[in-house]
Amino acid sequence: MFGPQMFDMFLYMVTCSVLRCLPVCPTDVSDEDSISSVVQTLTEQLKHTGLNLLINNAAIVVPAMPGPLSETTKKDMMDVYNTNVAGPFLLSKMLLPLLVKAAETHRPEKDKGSSMSCRRSAIINVSTLAGSIEKCPENFHMAPIYPYRTSKAALNMLTRCQAVDFKVSNVLVTAIHPGWVRTEMGGAQAPLNTQDSVQGMLTVMSSLSDKDSGVLVSWEGERIPW
Ligand SMILES: NC(=O)c1ccc[n+]([C@@H]2O[C@H](COP(=O)([O-])OP(=O)(O)OC[C@H]3O[C@@H](n4cnc5c(N)ncnc54)[C@H](OP(=O)(O)O)[C@@H]3O)[C@@H](O)[C@H]2O)c1
Repeated sequence: MFGPQMFDMFLYMVTCSVLRCLPVCPTDVSDEDSISSVVQTLTEQLKHTGLNLLINNAAIVVPAMPGPLSETTKKDMMDVYNTNVAGPFLLSKMLLPLLVKAAETHRPEKDKGSSMSCRRSAIINVSTLAGSIEKCPENFHMAPIYPYRTSKAALNMLTRCQAVDFKVSNVLVTAIHPGWVRTEMGGAQAPLNTQDSVQGMLTVMSSLSDKDSGVLVSWEGERIPW
């Protein structure tokens, strides 16, 4: 969704105090060794400034849309969980020292009284309306996709847990629904283009503060129920 494949494969990070070029590191988020390797590279680069922003964007849908129950296997459930939940879990866990470092070094006076912001230190978990348990009856029949829906519900819980856990370190954690977007996953009939979705998410991210940690919001900034 964010552009060329190389970028999609990774996480997006911004160093707040100094604009610097970070290496693009192709990473397989379903592979622990691959995550360890990228964390090592980032730690070498950012040990003094920390990491301001981690966006967990990579995800898979298996079986492909509409993903009916009859075509869904146990392996699909496990593979999707591995990429969509265990990947963001491990990346966030291993990058936490750099995120905490950024939170410690950032000057919060720029954030209008809020102790948390994406400028200071944040994890954004790219989730979906389809992971909302409350909204499921409204959209289930469009695409059953059991592994994907359950993985994103788990990602939402991960977001909530991280928000509670990392609050003491002033690391903001928010889940964002990018809208239904024309990508390989979203398909050609999706109403939103990638530019509008990403622009919307960037605007929302720039306004996130303490009250938004541990919630699910849309690309337009609306709260979505769990
Ligand atoms: N499109 C929508 O309508 C929509 C709606 C709601 C939520 N979302 C969410 O938005 C995010 C982006 O979705 P998208 O529409 O851009 O999907 P997409 O077109 O299928 O792209 C997914 C990206 O994730 C990468 N990826 C998959 N498995 C990976 C792994 N193990 N390690 C590293 N990268 C991996 C893929 O890389 P390769 O191409 O190299 O495999 C691809 O670049 C996802 O979290 C998705 O759940 C999308």
